[in-house]
Amino acid sequence: MRGPRGLRLVEEGLAGQLHQMLPPARGPRGRRSASCVRTAVFIFIVTFLWLQLHMASMSGGGSSTGANGAGKHGGAGGADAENSLHEFLNAVPPHLHKFLLGRNSSLANSTEPPPQPSLNLTMVRQAIEQYNAYQVVLNEGRLGPLHNDSLVIVIQVHARITYLRHLLVSLAQARGIENVLLIISHDFFDPEINELVHSIDFCKVMQIFYPYSIQTHPNEFPGESLGDCPRNIKKEQALKIKCLNAEHPDLYGHYREAKFTQTKHHWWWKANRVFDHLEVTRNHTGLVLFLEEDHYVAEDFIEALRLMQKATAVHCDKCNILSLGTYLKTYNYYGDSKNKEAAKAKRLGHSTSNIPPSWNFEILPTLYQQYQKAEVTQWMSNSHNMGMAFNRTTWREIRQCVKYFCNYDDYNWDWSLQQVSQNCMPHKLHALVMRGPRVFHIGECGVHHKKANCNSTAAISKVMKVLHNAKKHLFPSHLTITMPAKLKKTKPLRKGNGGWGDLRDHQLCYNMTVKDFVLG
Ligand SMILES: *[C@@H]1O[C@H](CO)[C@@H](O)[C@H](O)[C@H]1NC(C)=O
Ligand SMILES: *[C@@H]1O[C@H](CO)[C@@H](O)[C@H](O)[C@H]1NC(C)=O
Ligand SMILES: *[C@@H]1O[C@H](CO)[C@@H](O)[C@H](O)[C@H]1NC(C)=O
Ligand SMILES: *[C@@H]1O[C@H](CO)[C@@H](O)[C@H](O)[C@H]1NC(C)=O
Ligand SMILES: *[C@@H]1O[C@H](CO)[C@@H](O)[C@H](O)[C@H]1NC(C)=O
Ligand SMILES: *[C@@H]1O[C@H](CO)[C@@H](O)[C@H](O)[C@H]1NC(C)=O
Ligand SMILES: *[C@@H]1O[C@H](CO)[C@@H](O)[C@H](O)[C@H]1NC(C)=O
Ligand SMILES: *[C@@H]1O[C@H](CO)[C@@H](O)[C@H](O)[C@H]1NC(C)=O
Repeated sequence: MRGPRGLRLVEEGLAGQLHQMLPPARGPRGRRSASCVRTAVFIFIVTFLWLQLHMASMSGGGSSTGANGAGKHGGAGGADAENSLHEFLNAVPPHLHKFLLGRNSSLANSTEPPPQPSLNLTMVRQAIEQYNAYQVVLNEGRLGPLHNDSLVIVIQVHARITYLRHLLVSLAQARGIENVLLIISHDFFDPEINELVHSIDFCKVMQIFYPYSIQTHPNEFPGESLGDCPRNIKKEQALKIKCLNAEHPDLYGHYREAKFTQTKHHWWWKANRVFDHLEVTRNHTGLVLFLEEDHYVAEDFIEALRLMQKATAVHCDKCNILSLGTYLKTYNYYGDSKNKEAAKAKRLGHSTSNIPPSWNFEILPTLYQQYQKAEVTQWMSNSHNMGMAFNRTTWREIRQCVKYFCNYDDYNWDWSLQQVSQNCMPHKLHALVMRGPRVFHIGECGVHHKKANCNSTAAISKVMKVLHNAKKHLFPSHLTITMPAKLKKTKPLRKGNGGWGDLRDHQLCYNMTVKDFVLG
């Protein structure tokens, strides 16, 4: 499976039929820089034209943008998106504008997955196979090879390109980013997202594709297959009609829903892939940082990680996972036990408008003084699942617990990881957590849930403001570590959230690790 690396091989190896789907392969240095200049000029012109057009439409009374009724859908579309574009472009250095501007040179406003492009699935599968086999590292020639202690960042990406654009802008502005290897792990093949990823020039980049996606398996497991039991059917009924998974509803009595299983599978697959499969990370002993497409980073996050790494070496030998900070309670997506109903409503795609907003900026000012503080605590899925980093040593311990991760009846990867930590790992996961967060969650508009009052641009601009205000506190010269005299005993793990009862899911997940072992 493991293919040789190198762009040239991709050029030679890719069949002509894939040509349209992959961006043009870049040639030797001379040609590349020429095309860079061309690209820059093109983007400049396009930006300029767009701004001109936009100005014209604004001075034309604004009714044309106001009348498109985007507000009715409750999305952050239309006029809002356009208004925010100015704000975002003004806040970002010009050479980064290209990441914000979509093909149509407007702020891509969709936060929902794009309509399924009419791609030929056979070709998509072939393209995915090629990407995974060749393991091309972009920009390696210019930025040099990965060192064994360089930072590796893995971003799990579905289809929300607007968020990804902002995340890339934030990454591009981080100090030290040029030494990073960025691995983008996709579960949705989209030419426009590929184009965006290929335009990254500020660090080394590799794309990997989760090969068991619903997109590439629309009518078979892990997608939905014909014989699957309907979610809400009673078990007796299911046994009677002999649907495929009749024996294995989840702990709430519901049957598998394909789209809710993908994120956990993908998370486990990419961790296995990055630590155990890729040629480029074979000798890597440094940190791997896990991000998602709707995160946003502070410009000192790499330095913060370095400081934390140093601090754990000296002060906390049981710390085996670093967390760049919890952004208040925002990521409390999956509910806790008292919010189980809310979580289930979300799972069903029902309105969750009676749930208090999870988005709270008010307490941040008190954190401004704490930007150099970090604390030691047990790793908790709800609080520490954003911007977490660990090395291969920790990964080996986690991997040993594959059964705890894969058999736990919860479709959330972070709850499953907590299960691993509490019930399997000999020393549990001990986190060093930044008090002043370096990673933020901007994805108010979820993958599956259409929030009634979801406003993607509001979240992004608020995060930008927060970081602007925190600027003078970033890049601390040292960390102050607080260590509780005695770590709080973690509460016994609550019952899982379900959604992971089907044995096929357990097996697929397990295979990702065990088959890798066999293959070495
Ligand atoms: C935003 O997206 C919607 C549907 O995807 C589209 O109708 C609308 O014109 C878009 N607005 C802008 C400003 O691109
Ligand atoms: C640009 O937008 C137009 C109309 O909104 C659409 O028909 C076209 O496909 C878009 N082009 C690209 C490259 O997305
Ligand atoms: C998809 O592409 C393959 C290979 O090029 C071709 O054989 C097949 O007919 C195409 N399928 C569709 C539905 O276009
Ligand atoms: C990392 O690489 C350096 C130089 O190539 C080597 O000296 C060092 O032992 C390596 N460290 C680890 C942990 O492998
Ligand atoms: C890993 O280390 C081995 C042995 O030192 C070396 O032969 C190989 O080229 C290294 N691989 C990478 C990707 O650095
Ligand atoms: C990996 O992290 C552990 C702490 O979890 C630390 O003890 C170990 O030294 C680290 N390994 C390397 C090679 O840095
Ligand atoms: C969305 O957020 C932007 C930026 O904060 C704001 O200007 C706009 O009014 C908001 N739109 C809605 C529908 O709340
Ligand atoms: C997992 O691997 C086993 C053994 O190779 C195979 O029989 C089974 O079909 C696999 N299951 C899934 C869901 O991939």
